[in-house]
Amino acid sequence: MPAKNNNQHSVLFVCLGNICRSPSAEAVFRSQVEKEGLENNIIIDSCGTASYHIGEHPDERSVVAAQKRGYNMAKLVARQLDASDFLKFDYILAMDEENLNRINEIKPVNSKSTTGLFLDFHPDKNVSEVPDPYYGGAQGFGHVLDLIETASEHLLLHLKKSI
Ligand code: 4NP
Repeated sequence: MPAKNNNQHSVLFVCLGNICRSPSAEAVFRSQVEKEGLENNIIIDSCGTASYHIGEHPDERSVVAAQKRGYNMAKLVARQLDASDFLKFDYILAMDEENLNRINEIKPVNSKSTTGLFLDFHPDKNVSEVPDPYYGGAQGFGHVLDLIETASEHLLLHLKKSI
């Protein structure tokens, strides 16, 4: 990971397995950031709180749903959240409450990372969690992308204020 400058931000998206929601968020947010030419200002990564899928590429259903909207996430590789993430990332954003609780449980006391729910950046205050699509149908993967696209746009607006 490159060294951070003062006008840089770093965002880590976190779900359970790092094969559906958080790699989708990584791909969508990276696409939006690159469209604005801000890839040198915003470092982006994703991981899971669980170890089940370490080393795997994203779930094919996520890859297909993302491809339909022009996002390429096929080459991402799942990894698990670890203590060093709390030194590297300004924002550690969870897809749901359960994963946010896990993040906060293992957050070192000296970490300056801001932890929270990704959908806190979504303008619709009736949504707070990106639902786990793993055991559902294809429609769930589209819904995940809808939530992620909107929250990403608003996260980017927020970060641009301090770039
Ligand atoms: P993700 O989805 O947390 O969005 O990557 C899941 C992936 C795998 C499992 C659950 C959720 N699993 O139980 O293996």
